[in-house]
Amino acid sequence: MTLKDDLSAIVGDAFAGEGLDRALGAVKVADRPDLAQFQCNGALAAAKAAKKNPREIAGAIAEKLSARSEFEEISVAGPGFINLKLSAGFLSPRVDALAADRRFGGWAKPAPEKIVIDYGGPNVAKPLHVGHLRAAIIGESLKRIMRFAGDKVTGDVHLGDWGLQMGQLISELRLRQPDLVYFDPEAKGPFPADPPISLADLEEMYPAASAACKADPVRADLARKATKELQSGRPGYRALWRHFVDLSVNAMKRDYADLDVEFDLWKGEADADPLIPELTEDLKSRGIIEESDGAQIIRVARDDDKKEMPPIIFINSEGAVGYHATDVATIVDRKRELDPDRILYVVDARQRLHFEQVFRAVDKAGYFDEAKLEHLWFGTMNGKDGKPFKTREGGTLKLRDFIDMVTDRARERLAESGFAEGFSAEETEAVARQVGIAALKFADLSNPRTSDYIFDLDRFMAFEGKTGPYLLYASVRVRSVVAKAQAAGAGDAGPVKLVADEETDLALTLLGFADALQDAYARRLPHLLCDHAFALAQAFSKFYAACRIVDESDASMRASRLTLAQTAGGQLDLILSLLGFSAPDRM
Ligand code: ARG
Repeated sequence: MTLKDDLSAIVGDAFAGEGLDRALGAVKVADRPDLAQFQCNGALAAAKAAKKNPREIAGAIAEKLSARSEFEEISVAGPGFINLKLSAGFLSPRVDALAADRRFGGWAKPAPEKIVIDYGGPNVAKPLHVGHLRAAIIGESLKRIMRFAGDKVTGDVHLGDWGLQMGQLISELRLRQPDLVYFDPEAKGPFPADPPISLADLEEMYPAASAACKADPVRADLARKATKELQSGRPGYRALWRHFVDLSVNAMKRDYADLDVEFDLWKGEADADPLIPELTEDLKSRGIIEESDGAQIIRVARDDDKKEMPPIIFINSEGAVGYHATDVATIVDRKRELDPDRILYVVDARQRLHFEQVFRAVDKAGYFDEAKLEHLWFGTMNGKDGKPFKTREGGTLKLRDFIDMVTDRARERLAESGFAEGFSAEETEAVARQVGIAALKFADLSNPRTSDYIFDLDRFMAFEGKTGPYLLYASVRVRSVVAKAQAAGAGDAGPVKLVADEETDLALTLLGFADALQDAYARRLPHLLCDHAFALAQAFSKFYAACRIVDESDASMRASRLTLAQTAGGQLDLILSLLGFSAPDRM
């Protein structure tokens, strides 16, 4: 139970004691922290229903609550808000319990689930770009949050390895090097183990091929044919495809590792392909697939639809398997291989219609309950011009260059601020990488998932304010405060005594972690956890400014403050890891 849950239960009892609905006792953090810690607005709703005076009801509830030891102060404000201030006697043991908890008070889900989270979506041969960045950052954090809450979570990168771009590449290479054995129609393999081209060739070839196909219908036709031949299993094309995938995946793994993003599965769209014939049969036999203009479609529109809901094209008139069918088959594959309770997709907002169609189709087919499929869409990272982030030259920035850019900026900031003074070149480099990545990831995570935001490197890189670098710095600082106090003989940590306001505020913040985590989990919104991390860093900073540790003469106060400091540090580091980044040892 979180603190809010506990308080709501206590206040709910008081409502029940007045013959009112227990649910009216819901407690939330006070809107006016200067007046109270928590508040309950239930008397207003109760009064409306009973046509009574809300202040009267609030007064009766407050009267009942005043008999309880949990509260130091209860007052009725405005039209009938019940304001609550908790007693130190209630708070201290709760903080002691939190301090002794390996999970630092983190909420645990009562009924954990088996979950697959699909949060990569990079495409083979196209280098990862900033558009894939949000999926990776948000998905990684959600995966960690869910695992911590108790779910069994499998992260799948779900490579884009089966689309038209594969045919574009194959036909491009065929024009460039027609004599390669892969293009010999008779060749059955085995084919050379080493790829015929390098990663750099591949990255150069894709834009060239895609531009050529756009400009020239003949080229587009060649690409379509090659895609079809690949999909129907031509051995030389399959072998080439394998090379392309391997080259790309190696490069992607390095980029993701730099971002501290780790997938359990490296499956792709191609892995769903073998299921297509069987599913097509099944869907046809049950009348779920219909034929329309030579294509195999599934209708997903419903009577009460407010917007247009086009059918999905399972197999197009040329026999090619498209994006919709791949996602349907992937759900069946996941069901068979992992049998998840739920599948989550962290993919950008532009694909909302796609997922809605896919979810309806699999539900209609009886393959998966659409209520257990969630598209956790996100907004766009824009440049200062308000348009999707681009390089200065106007191109899409590759993730690799982007990581280098934030690391360079972090290195400069470290030099300016003197935070890495006396560090070896190696350590400076490692810290710069951590600071740069934290700036990037925190900026992305601290913006609500569903909003667009503007990428402003200078702001994100600041060591003050709500930034990744500030949080890393706070984490290092708490640890150093504790280590210094211990070295100076402050003694052992001990039971918490809440005397100063700053101590109580820090205690309340620590106790608020369970609620923040539960909210972030329930709404799939990591920014709520970012808010908590920032509030915690600030509460610690105010506490440390107001409360001496080493110079405190009372040994029990020293012990209490050490506990508060250690616990704040532990909880902060835990949250940083749930958000997906790690703090340096020092800076
Ligand atoms: N490869 C796709 C893209 O770049 C994203 C894939 C997302 N995941 C999925 N199951 N459709 O747009």
